[in-house]
Amino acid sequence: VNNLKYKKRIIQSLIVALWAAAITCYIKTGNPLLKSQPPEYVFSYGENQPENYPTTMGAYYFARLVEEQTEGRIKILVKSNGELGQEANVIWQMQHGGVDFARVSLSQLSAMDASFNVLQLPYLYVNSDHMWKVLEGTIGDDFLNLVNEYELVGLSWYDAGARNFYNNVKPITCLEDMEGMRIRVQQADMMVDMIETLGAKAVPMSYEEVYSNLQQKKVDGAENNWPSYESMNHYEVAKYYTIDEHTRIPEMQLCSKHTWDKLTPEDQNIISLCAWESALYERELWKEREKESKNKVLEKGTIVTELSPEEKEHFRNAMEDIYEKYCGENMDIVEQIIQMGTE
Ligand code: GCU
Repeated sequence: VNNLKYKKRIIQSLIVALWAAAITCYIKTGNPLLKSQPPEYVFSYGENQPENYPTTMGAYYFARLVEEQTEGRIKILVKSNGELGQEANVIWQMQHGGVDFARVSLSQLSAMDASFNVLQLPYLYVNSDHMWKVLEGTIGDDFLNLVNEYELVGLSWYDAGARNFYNNVKPITCLEDMEGMRIRVQQADMMVDMIETLGAKAVPMSYEEVYSNLQQKKVDGAENNWPSYESMNHYEVAKYYTIDEHTRIPEMQLCSKHTWDKLTPEDQNIISLCAWESALYERELWKEREKESKNKVLEKGTIVTELSPEEKEHFRNAMEDIYEKYCGENMDIVEQIIQMGTE
């Protein structure tokens, strides 16, 4: 009998302990029953960079914030490494309701509306602060809103640093060195023209194809920021990297208009705020990653050259026609941007 009483007491204490644990868990993490409810929406997010890249980490952060703020009602599944397709294709899918969210390079939006070229003209920004002043001001807002005309919603700006040239033939130290080089560019008219104006041959192709084309020597070089050069392993097949910072191409976080219209104004607001918060996070990660990538490729044997100020001036001067050809109609905005760099 005593043994039975003892067993009963143990079971009772166990039940009390379990209740206490359940109540503590409820207070700390919310109703576990609610948590196990399936989300109301499961959205896709396209990202063409690898897993641990700053923009991808920004995307995960965004997804986590949205899930938390909507108490699990909205779940966003980030698909990195271009799993949902090349950028241009992802944009198309978003316009037709096939993909819900993405982060894309602005150069891919200029095919849709040429005025996006204004924000990515060669040698436009004096430095990163200048670009952020523009993006965070009314000019940046106007361009975020411009995508509304194309079945998209512009959520926030992500950083992609400055782009430089790299190749596997020789260090580029002057304009003449560019002559005849076959350089991969993004699939955007202005980028093609920019390279041709510098005397090289532009070879447009998607980001995913660059490594193999460099490896098979179908192109001599390409141009990109430090983290892309490093994380896509381009340094393995193009060891001469020339710092000239010819472009800063901002990146935009986007939502498909089809997706957006399904949401309540409250959820739209949550998504907008989380996007901005994730963008600030990405900018911090970016700064760190730029340094890390640079150090890594230097260790791996990349030979870095920096254009002298006089040579850089030659490159810059060669671009005059590009400004006129691609942004002639928006020269007032271009001038405003240039002015902001002197203030
Ligand atoms: C950067 C950018 C990508 C883009 C790539 C390119 O890495 O982040 O989104 O696709 O440039 O050169 O195509």
